[in-house]
Amino acid sequence: MSSSEAPPNMPNLPDHEPAPTRGEPVKTTGLHIGEAAPGVAKVNPMIVADGIVRQFGGLKAVDVDHVEIPSGAITALIGPNGAGKTTFFNLLTGFDKPDAGTWTFQGKSLARVPAFKVAQRGLVRTFQLTKALSLLTVLENMKLGSAQRGERLFPSLIKPLWRKREEEIEARAHEILSRFKLDAKADDFAGGLSGGQRKLLEMARALMTDPVLVMLDEPMAGVNPALTQSLLDHILDLKTQGMTVLFVEHDMHMVRHIADWVIVMAEGRIVAEGPPDAVMKDPAVIDAYLGAHQDLDLGVVTGRITAEEAARK
Ligand SMILES: Nc1ncnc2c1ncn2[C@@H]1O[C@H](COP(=O)(O)OP(=O)(O)OP(=O)(O)O)[C@@H](O)[C@H]1O
Ligand SMILES: [Mg+2]
Repeated sequence: MSSSEAPPNMPNLPDHEPAPTRGEPVKTTGLHIGEAAPGVAKVNPMIVADGIVRQFGGLKAVDVDHVEIPSGAITALIGPNGAGKTTFFNLLTGFDKPDAGTWTFQGKSLARVPAFKVAQRGLVRTFQLTKALSLLTVLENMKLGSAQRGERLFPSLIKPLWRKREEEIEARAHEILSRFKLDAKADDFAGGLSGGQRKLLEMARALMTDPVLVMLDEPMAGVNPALTQSLLDHILDLKTQGMTVLFVEHDMHMVRHIADWVIVMAEGRIVAEGPPDAVMKDPAVIDAYLGAHQDLDLGVVTGRITAEEAARK
């Protein structure tokens, strides 16, 4: 990026530029600036990532040229199995290191920032396979969530001060647990929870850090339908409370229902993005994700090969 361009957290279409007087006016949905295409600038991006590559042996699991995650909205990251969604999550949150690339969170670089510091800055994530510690109680798991934010788990040395702080943390844990209807289970071992309850606990635990951006990797996977609506409502609640959400999900009904913006990955690349309805009608997405249009090759969708090359295959 040249020095005359916008700083990394800003879209490349600065608002002080005069509105175009010729040709098509710039389209804005409230979230993006310009045509909804891979890498489109956002009005107020929370994450801006450039040139992110992660290679496993000969496989480029992530190869993202440019992507921006809008602030204050719910963005769904969708794509077929093995598309690189979890790897991308791992990279953005410091759980893995890219071979190349830079990215910013609220305008500050996160490259080489370790996961616990990423969480301290207000970016937390949950895992596709829940990481609730089964031999700790639900409450202890919640307290570990605040430790992620840089709180210490208090040794007994300086008791009076620390006890007060610990009481505050416990009070916060109970308050969040009751919102998630898990308060009655505070003293149960997390290992005894159902899959859905564990997902709820993970989301609840993430909130202990008072995050700005919550990244959820398949929050609905393995969740009993009885808990689905509750999980959906909790995700919508995060937005109501002012948080930004980025979530990975395979359930398109859920994506359509709660996402303001959808980003599609296939073979490590961003192949489409836009509002849910538009994205789900996009033939390239249907091909990449649902496999319904067998006449379009995935290589064409990802720009790796031309349609002619695909036809020759
Ligand atoms: N640690 C690793 N070592 C080697 N290959 C890996 C590793 N992690 C992921 N991969 C590979 O990278 C690719 C992307 O995997 P990733 O888990 O990011 O996909 P995903 O989009 O999250 O898929 P799913 O929807 O199934 O969760 C896959 O081909 C996967 O096998
Ligand atoms: Mg995954």
